[in-house]
Amino acid sequence: FRTLRWAWRLGYLSAIAGVAYIGYGIYEDRHPEPQTEPDPTKKTLVILGTGWGSVSLLKRLDTENYNVIVISPRNYFLFTPLLPSCTTGTIEHRSIMEPIRTILRSKKASVRFYEAEASSIDPDRKVVRIFDNSEVKGDMTETEVPYDMLVVGVGAENATFGIPGVREHSCFLKEIGDAQRIRKRIMDCVETAAFKDQSPEEIDRLMHMVVVGGGPTGVEFAGELQDFFEEDIKKLVPEISDRFRVTLIEALPNVLPSFSKQLIEYTESTFKEEKINIHTKTMVKKVTDKTVEAVATRPDGTKETIVFPYGLLVWATGNAVRPVVQDLMQRIPAQKNSRRGLAVNEYLVVQGARDIWAVGDCAVAGYAPTAQVASQEGNFLARLFNNMARTEALENKIAELSGSLNLQPGNTAEISREIEEYERQLRRIKDVKPFHYSHQGSLAYIGSEKAVADVTWFNGNVAAAGGLTYLFWRSAYISMCFSTRNRLLVINDWLKSKLFGRDLSRE
Ligand code: FAD
Ligand code: NAI
Repeated sequence: FRTLRWAWRLGYLSAIAGVAYIGYGIYEDRHPEPQTEPDPTKKTLVILGTGWGSVSLLKRLDTENYNVIVISPRNYFLFTPLLPSCTTGTIEHRSIMEPIRTILRSKKASVRFYEAEASSIDPDRKVVRIFDNSEVKGDMTETEVPYDMLVVGVGAENATFGIPGVREHSCFLKEIGDAQRIRKRIMDCVETAAFKDQSPEEIDRLMHMVVVGGGPTGVEFAGELQDFFEEDIKKLVPEISDRFRVTLIEALPNVLPSFSKQLIEYTESTFKEEKINIHTKTMVKKVTDKTVEAVATRPDGTKETIVFPYGLLVWATGNAVRPVVQDLMQRIPAQKNSRRGLAVNEYLVVQGARDIWAVGDCAVAGYAPTAQVASQEGNFLARLFNNMARTEALENKIAELSGSLNLQPGNTAEISREIEEYERQLRRIKDVKPFHYSHQGSLAYIGSEKAVADVTWFNGNVAAAGGLTYLFWRSAYISMCFSTRNRLLVINDWLKSKLFGRDLSRE
């Protein structure tokens, strides 16, 4: 009993300490220290984008060392791993957004932010051309921003491979607007299917949700959609519930190609139980406003054309290079052979360019286009830039002291000692190792409160799947959320949708 009492007291004290710690963090965020103004005499560091790569860089960058300017059409950071949950209202979209202004306000020296899209980069004149693509426009909508150093972190756009009809008729799943569009469209399909005297064929079409692409985005979305149907739509709109179907189309022989074999099998069998139809070895060739046309390869190697009528079509076939990056690649001869983005060296410097670095999905460094890679690259660049600034400051000090050696002959010994100390510091910080990616593992939610995980554990790989992995998935993503505010909002959304069900309002 005594041990139990002590354990209880210890738990109680740690809970109080935890709450006090979180409370202090919130207080600090709400009452930030005054910031120093940007110093235009310092080197201008322009950062494009407010995604995983750029924001990880900003978080760790000592902004007082540079005149920092951030440019992005999106004035917030988006926690993409929970985006599929926003399509069904399990999580509300604002819970996974963090305003860039809040992030920048927490820095010691202020940073300028322009909500704009970069349309081109001129590496010879060292300027970025930007334009305001928001709804409200002032007299000035297009201008140039000069840089001394540039970080390109603009991510990627959706790949369509030029397949006819994709852009016009399907929904993507990359941005907040995409998730909102999907959420609205699901409910529109359901309400239209329930319309008086709707024909059975039309109900079947409207209630058929097709997902193209069996990568993690397509799989997670299909799982979320099936949950939404089983837990909410089925109960609230029972008259059409037996017609709801989710179909996942994948060109390769299996879904989740980047996961281990046993997890692929587990996902496919779970989908079968959840009644999600998987069509592998099936390549979509054409999309119209009501149908998807695909060519399937049968086990004997023959081909068959299948037409899928659909109500909602979500297109998740991976990444393509953004126009601004394509344009930059064309201006740099060394990028001639690069196809998937800006080829960078082991310090993330864009090959063939001076003073340009690239991070995340727009950079080709030999790693998969994931948030994990982008954030590690951003952290690496922050360390590199902090070191570069400290190196410059130390070199200036050494030059200044060396100059004063002749002027103050009485202090020679002391000055030499100081120089030696600075040189020692300089050697230590100048020794920056190249970027090295450390893979922590892959996680994906597959519906029915199950997840799959390929986790790196003591230099080995552990594959796990099921309900416990789902709890691990949830706790991992909660801990990775950008801020305490995000964490509390996401937990609140999870509780809300569990207790009251998801909100079926179409808005
Ligand atoms: P992004 O995060 O896409 O950011 C790009 C930024 O650049 C944005 O702010 C954008 O507005 C801005 N921008 C765009 N064009 C311009 C322009 N012309 N000028 C200036 N700025 C511009 N990865 C994982 O590791 N784990 C996951 O669980 C995971 N889940 C995902 C779920 C979904 C639904 C999606 C779509 C992706 C997921 N990913 C996940 C992948 C991950 O989101 C990306 O790899 C990551 O966002 C890449 O970071 P980035 O900084 O390169 O680009
Ligand atoms: P992806 O590139 O991983 O998968 C796209 C899939 O679409 C491929 O399997 C491809 O074969 C298929 N495809 C392409 N064209 C097709 C066609 N015409 N017809 C049928 N199928 C076709 O893309 P995704 O899922 O969007 O992921 C992008 C990146 O983001 C990846 O690096 C991924 O690892 C990462 N990501 C990670 C997540 C996680 O870890 N939970 C979640 C979501 C994305």
